[in-house]
Amino acid sequence: MLFIITSVATVAFGVYWYLNRHKPLKYFLRDLRYAIDMQGCGAAGLIDDWVNKSRNNVVLPDASEKIAVITGGARGIGKEVVRGLLKAKMTVIMGVRDPQSIGKLQDSMENGRKLVAFPLDLQSLKTVKEFADNVLKAYPEVHLLVNNAGIMYVDYKETEDSFETHMAVNHLSHFYLAHLLLPALKKGGKPDSPSRIVNVSSCAHYAGYIHFDDLNAKKHYDSVTAYAQSKLAQLMITRHVNKLLEESGENVKCYSVHPGIVNTDLFDNTMFSKLPWVTKTLFKSPEKGAVSILFACFNNEILNKGGLYISNCQEGISNRFSKNIEHQQRLFQVSCDLVGVEQEKYGKN
Ligand SMILES: NC(=O)c1ccc[n+]([C@@H]2O[C@H](COP(=O)([O-])OP(=O)(O)OC[C@H]3O[C@@H](n4cnc5c(N)ncnc54)[C@H](OP(=O)(O)O)[C@@H]3O)[C@@H](O)[C@H]2O)c1
Repeated sequence: MLFIITSVATVAFGVYWYLNRHKPLKYFLRDLRYAIDMQGCGAAGLIDDWVNKSRNNVVLPDASEKIAVITGGARGIGKEVVRGLLKAKMTVIMGVRDPQSIGKLQDSMENGRKLVAFPLDLQSLKTVKEFADNVLKAYPEVHLLVNNAGIMYVDYKETEDSFETHMAVNHLSHFYLAHLLLPALKKGGKPDSPSRIVNVSSCAHYAGYIHFDDLNAKKHYDSVTAYAQSKLAQLMITRHVNKLLEESGENVKCYSVHPGIVNTDLFDNTMFSKLPWVTKTLFKSPEKGAVSILFACFNNEILNKGGLYISNCQEGISNRFSKNIEHQQRLFQVSCDLVGVEQEKYGKN
């Protein structure tokens, strides 16, 4: 057995070395550590999903008078979250790159007539602003924002705002969108029924670290590192913004969620895209992946636990870096600078 494990590890290291042989040693070792840590996170996530299968449940309320906004709801986990929000009778506004694509969803989902879409491309702060303006014009009060859209392991590219794409799509654009919609979320929140911001993070955050000296990977890029960093940023910002809102007495709560290891197109750029039988057998279905997110949207037992990181409908295990208040504050400050918002004015536009 030991011989087999050693042989597989040696071959895997050989392949990794060959593919990354051009990197300076410092980055080679750093990226190798991330690659190993990420495999560990994935394996731990799979085990957690199996062990806590029976906890992954949510009760959908009647929320017929309420307005939800979600990014990226046309496929994957987001599509099943949209189905759940519509089942709860919410009006659901989707931010999608192709608003025409929602016709099929409107026809196929219960309460599909309550689904609306506006264009949104998270690779551009300008379209985030336009999307928020459209939402605010039509719905001055909002009760729920689900920052769900995401990308994983894409090649290096800078957005039009000069951000690395994982950082832009997964963290910075959502951070900016929350800022723009906060006035409407504050209006929608009541003491016994606060509005909620739900950031879809990942267990991958556990391998992450915020590279304050190179947040947008201009010195060195590795897609695994970039994904883990962006998911860690979402979790940390959830805690910090929740704290700010609590301190100013607003009726808005923030949560971050790991949905599970879920069989979606997110794995298109990984070896799993060649192993569909593995993802089908071992991973959660998108429907089950949506459950913890819907739990964060609706469960009332977590109302006094703003800032909570949720996995399989209970508190998840988050890394040490994410709990450091100074790191959270610094990330908030840097994120404000990057999206062009004064710290004191965050959420107060
Ligand atoms: N699947 C998992 O195992 C897993 C595990 C942990 C966390 N997550 C997180 O769960 C969330 C949903 O992932 P998924 O698995 O459902 O992935 P998915 O099936 O690949 O869906 C990704 C969604 O994000 C949208 N999106 C991507 N880039 C966008 C952009 N520039 N502007 C607007 N929308 C954009 C896509 O919209 P288009 O249709 O326009 O491309 C799509 O709706 C992500 O945040 C992911 O990090 C997933």
